[in-house]
Formats: sequence, C-alpha cells, structure tokens
Amino acid sequence: MVDPALILLLLGVSISLYLSKTHIISFYDKFQKSGFQGLKSSSSTPSTSTTKGKSAYANGSVADEDGNIMPRPTPLMITPDQVSNYDDRPWRPFRWPYHQTMSIFKLDINHWLDMDKYYIHYIEEKKRIWLKYGKENIDWLPEGYDASFELMDVVSNHLIERYPLLFTVLKDGGAYDDDYSKAGTGKIIKNELTQEILDMTLPLKQHPLLYVTKLAKEDFYLVKKKPDGLHYLVAAAVPFPGGSFGINHKIGRNLDVIHEDVPYYKEKLQKSMERWFARMRPCDPVERASWYISWDHKLKVNNVYQLPKFNPNVEANMKSTDPKEFNVRVERQTLRRLPKSQAIIFTNHPIFYSIEEMKDEPLIPSLIKKIIYEGPQDIIKYKNFESFRDHISDYLDGLIKRQIDLGLIKEDTPLKTLPTYPFAHWVKADFDYINGGFNNPSASYDKKANYVDKYKTELVAEND
Ligand code: HEM
Repeated sequence: MVDPALILLLLGVSISLYLSKTHIISFYDKFQKSGFQGLKSSSSTPSTSTTKGKSAYANGSVADEDGNIMPRPTPLMITPDQVSNYDDRPWRPFRWPYHQTMSIFKLDINHWLDMDKYYIHYIEEKKRIWLKYGKENIDWLPEGYDASFELMDVVSNHLIERYPLLFTVLKDGGAYDDDYSKAGTGKIIKNELTQEILDMTLPLKQHPLLYVTKLAKEDFYLVKKKPDGLHYLVAAAVPFPGGSFGINHKIGRNLDVIHEDVPYYKEKLQKSMERWFARMRPCDPVERASWYISWDHKLKVNNVYQLPKFNPNVEANMKSTDPKEFNVRVERQTLRRLPKSQAIIFTNHPIFYSIEEMKDEPLIPSLIKKIIYEGPQDIIKYKNFESFRDHISDYLDGLIKRQIDLGLIKEDTPLKTLPTYPFAHWVKADFDYINGGFNNPSASYDKKANYVDKYKTELVAEND
C-alpha cells in the first residue's frame, strides 16, 4: 500500500517541475528582484484587507475560496509620451522540435495587460470593428453577465494600479456590491492615452464588455464550467481573431468544439487542458504564445487567412510583396480565473514582429525556415504555411547565410529551441524591465518604426 502523503508529495513536485521549465524560471528570477510577483506569491503591493471569496477588489487583495491571494500589480510610472516609444516584450515562441503542447508559463501579473506604442491603434481599431461588425466580434450570453462585470472591475483596477499615470480616477463611488446593483458605486476614470472618460458607476450605460474593450488592447474570452463538466464560452470581446472566424460561431460552444479544428487537440491538448482548468486558482495566472506568418498587419483577418471570395487578389498581393515585409504574428495569451464568478479569462493579443527585425538573432531565421517546411503536417496546413513559404524561402536562406558569415551561428549549430524561449535572446537587462518597454537593440531595428499608416492601406477586403 503506497502512502497517500507520498503520492501527494510526488504530485506536488511534478506540478512544480512542470510549471518551472527551468530556463523560463531563471529568466523571471532576474525580474523578481524588481518587483515580480510570481505564482502563489503574495502581492508586493500592500493591501489593506484580505477577505475570503466576495471581497471588493478596490479595497484590497482578493482571496479565492481557499484563501489564496489574487496577485496584484506593482505601479509603473510611465507617461503617455513614454508609451509612444515602447515595444511589447520580444516574443520568440519558435520551438524545435515542434510538438503541440500546452506550453504555459506562470504569468508575472505585472505583464497581464502590457503597454506598448500601438495601444491607441488597437483601441481605435476595436471601436471601428465593433461599429462595423458588432456581435460578429463582441458578444455575450445572459449567463456571462456577472463574469463580464467582474472582468470590467478587475481590468479597470489592474490598469489603475499598474499605470497610475495612464488611467486617472476622477470619481470613486466605492466598491460594487455582490450583485452589482447598488447605484452610484463604481468609478469614473479617464484613459489618458485615448482621452476617453469612462463612467463605470451604476447603473452602467453599456455592457461591461464594451468598457473592457475601451480599456484594454487585448481580446477577451470568458469561459464558465457547466454542470456537464465542460467549459463554455459565455462572453467574448474578440475584434482581432486574425483568422476568418467570427466569435458568433464560437459563443455558447464548449472548448472541445471550439478547438475542433486545432491540430492534435484531442491527442495532445484536451486532457492536459481539462486537468489544468480543474486545478486552476485565481492565484495561478499563466501565459503562452502561438504564432503564424502573414505579409500584413491586419488585426481582424490577416491576409494569410483571407478567403479569396473576400479578397480575390490575395495571392497576387502576396507574390508582389517583398519578403522583407513578412511578419510573424505572435498571439500572446494569458489565462486567469476570476474569484467571484469563477470564470476563466482567456486573453489573446496579437503582436507583429517583422522577420527582418529578428535577422540578427541567432537561429531565428533557421527555426522559422525549419518549422514552415518540416513542422508537423497538420500544423503546416492549419497555419497556411504552404501558401507563401516558397515565396520567402530564398530570403530566409539569405538570412541564414548572413548569420553564418557574421559568425552569429555556425553551419553546424544544432537547431533547437532557444534557451530564452519564449523570448528573444537579448532580453537580459533589468533596465528594460524597469522602464516597462523593450526595444530591440539590433542595429537593423528602427526604434521609431510604426506601421499604423501602412495598416490603413492594407484594409482592402470587405470583411476587413
Ligand atoms: C491552456 C489552455 C489553452 C491551450 C493550450 C490552447 C491551445 C490552442 C491552440 C494550440 C490553438 C491553435 C492555434 C495555435 O497554434 O495556438 C488554439 C486555438 C484557439 N483557441 Fe485555444 N487554447 C487554450 C485555451 C483556450 C481558451 C480558454 C479559449 C476560449 C474560448 C480558447 C479559444 C481558442 C480559439 C477561439 C482558437 C482558434 C480556433 C480556430 O482556429 O477556429 N483557447 N488554442
């Protein structure tokens, strides 16, 4: 008979090992010194009160049913002017060999809703898409209302706490009550980046998800577990799906149906995701990233997923695009559980990195080339790599040769996932972190680069 305590101990150790993919932890360890609050750590922001379950976010830390503290961010005193020069974290989620796995990492809560120079662009684009496409991209079911409200509360408080100079509280009517009904409670805040004033005092003038859409540049999926044990999408603010799916086809569906077309979902993901969701607590936020390639910066539907019926010229357009213009679109995702509604919040945020800006980074062109030609067949199909890879192949070969000539790599450097995965090799200096932004140090990277004007010329299809 095996001792149950031993089983528990072994289980605990294997979970920690799973979470602490050693290189990632050591990457974050450096940041811990500068205020990083990791998984299961209590907040470094002093809280005035910690109560169980339904405590108010505004008045202190929030604990879940087991009393675990919800992580809260440390203030970052950046101004709107500074944000206009900031780049997001340099994600490089390229793995070789490429296996479909959950690949989640514990999330430093300070990075739940990162800031960067495209913030205003994303917010404006969300507004345009909502006005033009409405419920195709932002929709909710009645059973998602409490979670949407809680999310609005969590997002607004997070932004106010993390970025005090970007979000100003104009009026604080106090914390919402348990069923979000007490008139006058809630805040009026000013978004100093968009100059918009958001009145979130009760009664609300709009659905809470629309406030979230005006506050955060991320897409949000709200997922609840039903008595059948499955997780359902109950509300979603997703203006930037990237692919040609509308959220109206996903809402009300469960995660198995939503991931139906995802390669190896049943074999490699489903079980681990179920196990993860069953255990996940509000104090366990995680993040992950996936990616694909396109030759535009569109947020709603990238060219690589554009259907010819909407854009008959898409192939010709690709062939006439200089390979230097091709971008990796990183889908940066986070998962956290809200303590009151117990809803799981899944965020997705697209960030574009041109292949050109990564050309000085050892092995990056080699990894991209390898994956788009030799990755798992179903992934190659799902990400439409075949549609453009021959067009950029010589360009990638040229970059690989350049890296050999410059001594950045050798002919026989083994091709494998970078030790700094999922980030660029150059993310070393705490200085970058303290300033809240990351600028690529490569001589070939133009820090002033901004694709917003170009973006407007890319919107040519009627479903853009
Ligand atoms: C640990 C949790 C999760 C994992 C590992 C995961 C994994 C994936 C993967 C591998 C894909 C294919 C695209 C890619 O390469 O990334 C995908 C697509 C997608 N996931 Fe998830 N996912 C997770 C949670 C969620 C949640 C909570 C939602 C909320 C509804 C969600 C919604 C979607 C959607 C909408 C797509 C696009 C499907 C399509 O192409 O039609 N995922 N996910």
